[in-house]
Amino acid sequence: MCGIIGYVGGRPCREILLRGLERLEYRGYDSAGISTLDPDGTIHAVRAVGNIAALRAAIASRVPVGAAGLDDEDHAGGDGLLGIGHTRWATHGRVSQANAHPHSDTTDRVHIVLNGIVENHLELRAQLTAEGADFTSETDAEVVAHLIAHHYEGDLVAAARHAYDQLEGHYAFAVMAADQPEQLVAMRKECPLIVGLADHGSFVASSVSAFLEHTDRVLEVQDGETAVLTRSGARLLAAGSGRPVIRRTTTLDWDLEAAEKGGYDTFLAKEIDEQADAVAQTLAGRLDADVALFDGLTLEHEHLQVLQRVRIVACGTSYHSGLVGRHLIESWARVPVEVEIASEYRYREPVIEHDELVLGITQSGETADTLGAMRLAAGRGATVLAITNVMGSQATREADGVLFTRAGIEISVAATKTFTSQVAALAAFALALGRARGTLDPERAGALAAQLQHLPQLLAQTVAATDAPVRELARALSDEPLFVFLGRHAGNPVAMEGALKLKEITYRPAEAFAAGELKHGPIALIAPGTPVLCVATSSPVRGKLLTNMAEVQARGARVIAITDEAGDPALGDAEVVAIPRTDDPLLQSLLAVVPLQLLAHHMASQLGLNVDQPRNLAKTVTVE
Ligand code: M6R
Repeated sequence: MCGIIGYVGGRPCREILLRGLERLEYRGYDSAGISTLDPDGTIHAVRAVGNIAALRAAIASRVPVGAAGLDDEDHAGGDGLLGIGHTRWATHGRVSQANAHPHSDTTDRVHIVLNGIVENHLELRAQLTAEGADFTSETDAEVVAHLIAHHYEGDLVAAARHAYDQLEGHYAFAVMAADQPEQLVAMRKECPLIVGLADHGSFVASSVSAFLEHTDRVLEVQDGETAVLTRSGARLLAAGSGRPVIRRTTTLDWDLEAAEKGGYDTFLAKEIDEQADAVAQTLAGRLDADVALFDGLTLEHEHLQVLQRVRIVACGTSYHSGLVGRHLIESWARVPVEVEIASEYRYREPVIEHDELVLGITQSGETADTLGAMRLAAGRGATVLAITNVMGSQATREADGVLFTRAGIEISVAATKTFTSQVAALAAFALALGRARGTLDPERAGALAAQLQHLPQLLAQTVAATDAPVRELARALSDEPLFVFLGRHAGNPVAMEGALKLKEITYRPAEAFAAGELKHGPIALIAPGTPVLCVATSSPVRGKLLTNMAEVQARGARVIAITDEAGDPALGDAEVVAIPRTDDPLLQSLLAVVPLQLLAHHMASQLGLNVDQPRNLAKTVTVE
């Protein structure tokens, strides 16, 4: 986790770094800091516990109003032309100012920011301490600062590369030195790092969002390569040999506005609203017969026809989209699908067949467990594909083929538009697979494609129709101590996703159950007034779900039905949240996720919680 940024160029860097860090806050916000270099070789570091607002306050309290000069004694922070910044999600060491980045060596010559984990840090710390290094924090990152300083004899590139060879783990760092006013050096190992090239200078960061307002021109950095940034550009040196790497820059199709709130109170509200566009983007050009869905890999019809199994590996919300995907693929393409929690799968000695297709679903493309599961399968000969939203992410580098969800950047920690886009991508995949295997005849395939085309419009209608009633519902329910979510069939993963959203941002206990399991234990949770949210959309098992609803109602539960059949008398006394209708039951269940997302959003807002940055969480989980 953590977000890093570095800049060297023709502009004062303090505000550039701070704004970049604000856009990286989704990666963690336990503490933050920047180091900047003045032309005279003085490095100024400011670090604060809390988010970037806290860092800004720390800087403001130290910089005299209108002063260009800075107070060296308290390390007030300069505004030179080169600097690095960090926003932290704590792994090694508690949340404290001392553990906040940047970290420096004993002589304060070398400052670094690091994302990831250095596994052999204790051993290195002991060696460096024996040689006289004076540590001031508990972090693994400080070890790297001392190690680079240990190797530094005027050549920062050589020192960084030397240190890199000694480090074990997965990490990305950017390093600056007091006597190098023109140069920043950065390296990565299985953690995100990307270079941005603007007309006024060069950037390096964990994600493009950090510098998107300055440039959309990026250079990918591979594991072991060294990125050497100067004011006029950046060069890459190959892993091992250190020879120059020739790599073309890429121009991104994300604009800055997409990374801003655009008038909404929260990113989450914006992203819930953006689902129609996001799904339209995901599906664009992918519903015709014979399209190549995956970048980098053409799935031959012959291969698809004999496909024995699809195995989905994912975490959190992406796991839930995989569960919906199982229904889509099994129903439309008649291929058995296993859906695995990546962190469980990778450590349980799974049997992996050579002819199975493994699909890693990961919004960020950086989730450690999902990547670990994909690597395991690839190592045993499976074809590994990725569904992700982030160009250039680790998953895209490691998979044999990639299906981009094209949902646009998602900032809020709680995933929403990437969930619906993942399901849409899985639907496009299931449709292609069904066509290739002949399990969908042309007429049915055409009808499903038409319904998918219509899905964005229905998503927009669902947001419009449910926003106000769900806001009221959130108000009425906000004091409840426990929430139960019920679903069956494809509605079950939607119920699971609804419960995850609620606990994630409102911190309220929320449990989802397959409604058929109720009588096997969970019904004991139901007390008079317990809110039970039911995904009661049209499906082959809707009648059975209505029976389960009646059972909890009979025990005094307050039942809220999300349904496309609002007038159905069988709903009894349930409160109804009406959603639009589509013909396919699998897609119908997907619309039901919208009011559940809105419920979590409105309740968290009404409770005065930080909707976009819930406690203890980070958007991208790059550690196990
Ligand atoms: O980037 P990924 O899709 O791999 O992330 C997986 C989970 O960490 C993520 O979906 C998480 O559960 C969300 N915060 C849920 O809203």
